[in-house]
Amino acid sequence: MAHRVAVIGGDGIGPEVVAEGLKVIEAAGVRLDTAPYDLGGSRYLRDGTVLDDATVAEWRSFDALYMGAVGTPEVPPGVIERGLLLKMRFELDLYINLRPFTAPGHDFVVIRENTEGTYAGEGGFLRRGTPAEIATQGSVNTRHGVERAVRYAFDLAMTRRKHVTLVHKTNVLTFSGDLWERAFNEVASEYPEVSTAYNHVDAACIYFVEDPARYDVIVTDNLFGDILTDLGGAVSGGIGLAPTANLHPGRVSMFEPVHGSAPDIVGTARANPVAAILSGAMMLDHLGETDAAERIRKACDGAESLTGTTSQIGDAVAARLAR
Ligand code: NAI
Ligand code: MG
Repeated sequence: MAHRVAVIGGDGIGPEVVAEGLKVIEAAGVRLDTAPYDLGGSRYLRDGTVLDDATVAEWRSFDALYMGAVGTPEVPPGVIERGLLLKMRFELDLYINLRPFTAPGHDFVVIRENTEGTYAGEGGFLRRGTPAEIATQGSVNTRHGVERAVRYAFDLAMTRRKHVTLVHKTNVLTFSGDLWERAFNEVASEYPEVSTAYNHVDAACIYFVEDPARYDVIVTDNLFGDILTDLGGAVSGGIGLAPTANLHPGRVSMFEPVHGSAPDIVGTARANPVAAILSGAMMLDHLGETDAAERIRKACDGAESLTGTTSQIGDAVAARLAR
């Protein structure tokens, strides 16, 4: 039976790299029943649509969403980020952002809580635009939201090297940090085989550069995770290779490369499709096609040395899968 996948190519190089990802999945022998969705900055500029509720409702009946990237320079900041990316995460409750880092000397995973923290949109203005204006931006941390992210990290660690590091800033963020620390320690007590560590986020930035081998699974909040995963990408092979998953385990989940729509190289065939291909492999894991996912990852081994146009790289990876 074919898996039902909603495909959002998006803007810029998004459709270019997604086409290669689908090509490689087909070469791996997995059948997808795809439905295209034309969304992103270009669509917004054309008719004002960002993401309507009817579309979100349709997505609930799919097995997965596969996305390229959304965003164009002509659209004001926030419209697509809040209206499409964050709305998708919140409405589908994609509470785990999973980012694997695999490069020579790097083999760790960051679990970023994906629905709360400073990204929940709590806050407001007083006297906006006047000399006496005030802006506040709160951080939302529910015991339920924190605990399910922490639990996911421990479950994942059980399939790996059995080590979880909590990253936070408990010495300064004493309220949210306290909740995170207690939830972490209580869940840890249920996993006696898993060893644990704690790093302040600023120290973690140093270790990401100087000693990444200390990490197996990291769990952290939405904002720290956003920043830390970009640093992780920069020290482990670069933006053209990094995939990510936005998960609600057991329900429709979303898979995309970490990079954006790269308007500076759109149409030049210089976009590296490997990040999108590896996102496709993560999607296959979610769909239960773990064997095909593993074969795609193997075919991408040494991908940093693949050269050529976007479709030539896609063809080369697909050719390695031919049986
Ligand atoms: P970007 O990731 O699009 O580009 C940053 C730099 O990396 C550029 O020089 C680009 O050419 C290069 N690059 C990115 N992906 C590449 C690939 N696959 N192969 C080779 N080079 C690649 O980030 P930027 O420029 O900050 O954002 C551009 C647009 O993308 C903005 O509208 C932004 O909002 C959006 N964006 C969307 C994301 C998403 O859909 N989740 C994530 C990040 C940015
Ligand atoms: Mg980011």
